[in-house]
Amino acid sequence: MTKAFNRRLTKKDQKVFRKQLKAASAEKDVETAYKSLIQKAFDPDGLDFAWSSPFNTDGVFSELANSSLFNLQQSPAIFYKNYAVLKLLLETKWNKDFKLAPVKFQTLVQAIYYLKEFQGHNEQLPNVVLIGDENECFVVAGSQLAVYLSEKLNWSIPASSAGTDPSNQNFVLQLISKSGINPYVFEVSSKELDLNNVINLIACYAQGLPLVKLKINEKNLRETFEWFINSVFHGSLKKYEPDTLVSIFVQSLTASKDCYLVPPSQKELHLIDGSVIPIDANAYISFFSRFEKNYSPKEKREITAIADRLIEETKRRFHGDFWTPTLWADKAQEVLEKQFGNDYREKFVVWDSSCGSKNLTRDYYFKELYVSTLHQSELDMSSAYNTNAISFQMDFLNDDVFINSNTQESELTKIPPPY
Ligand SMILES: C[S@@+](CC[C@H](N)C(=O)[O-])C[C@H]1O[C@@H](n2cnc3c(N)ncnc32)[C@H](O)[C@@H]1O
Repeated sequence: MTKAFNRRLTKKDQKVFRKQLKAASAEKDVETAYKSLIQKAFDPDGLDFAWSSPFNTDGVFSELANSSLFNLQQSPAIFYKNYAVLKLLLETKWNKDFKLAPVKFQTLVQAIYYLKEFQGHNEQLPNVVLIGDENECFVVAGSQLAVYLSEKLNWSIPASSAGTDPSNQNFVLQLISKSGINPYVFEVSSKELDLNNVINLIACYAQGLPLVKLKINEKNLRETFEWFINSVFHGSLKKYEPDTLVSIFVQSLTASKDCYLVPPSQKELHLIDGSVIPIDANAYISFFSRFEKNYSPKEKREITAIADRLIEETKRRFHGDFWTPTLWADKAQEVLEKQFGNDYREKFVVWDSSCGSKNLTRDYYFKELYVSTLHQSELDMSSAYNTNAISFQMDFLNDDVFINSNTQESELTKIPPPY
């Protein structure tokens, strides 16, 4: 058998999932969306795995008894061709903010109670737990939760209410402060997230592999910075200037010795200049459970270089200039494709005459693209984007354009007059 353990989700798979989530009006719809996503990723033909709902769980995705993926009779090995067999417990929710620690950990307590049921029935425990609602999801390894099965808790409480039961309040607090579990929350409704990251994490836990942290680079910098400031400075964002926010982000990535959570409480962040600021430490730890904190000197230089651009962009956004986020730039492309055809970027000459830092075009390839804006600084800042386009400074209200069918491409860069 040559079947791979998980396949890459295509853009279409991801689009279908997001559409399902967007159309969802209740938890059951969310559950259906996650189930079909997992099925597509791990067993699109439906030959080896199936969903079931033992012990009133929302779903358990596990190997069919007659599957050839993992057959104890043939071999005592746990791995099949380097792939372990996945047993995934799914818990779906409706309209929860998983970035809030109590919400996240109450749901984890519910999952622990489900694991207790598996244990009580002598069933193999799920090795991965996936928890999600219509906007966010997070993943933990079954083994991270299984260590709590010997806790002295009132195990007769139904799993569905175990997380919020008053008798478990201290247990929830203990998990928040001492467990070291703090899964990264993926924003699944955001198109910027490649859902293969979630699938790879599931596969990684199924194989019992240590988590490989993601590095921050030019491609994911904006998305990760947004997540970082909105979560780590939850409720206090307005107190800080853009320069400070970017600086704290960069320090956290590049200066691990001088930028750290102050022990023992770990509720405040120590910065390079010796100052100490209050932050949402849970969000901070959760961020670095997913993203790398150690970089080579070369990578550090690259992060610092991109940071200059980030400050500029954040400043403008904070001062009320609306710069289109990727989500809306994608939407604009969708609308244009509907109107002019999917291949319009190949067929038409396109000119964005107030391009700013090229947010509307930078993630797409255009056969013939012109981008102009009022400030040269905007073009300098975005010089890495749409590199095959003609970029030029122009004030569309006051400068004239003299273009005719004989105008050479090179002359466009000389606009405005005297040309
Ligand atoms: C709100 S921003 C939008 C930038 C970008 N198109 C986006 O969606 O993120 C407006 C942009 O229009 C540019 N702009 C304003 N007045 C302009 C003018 N008279 N000529 C050319 N560009 C202008 C500004 O410099 C700024 O970059």
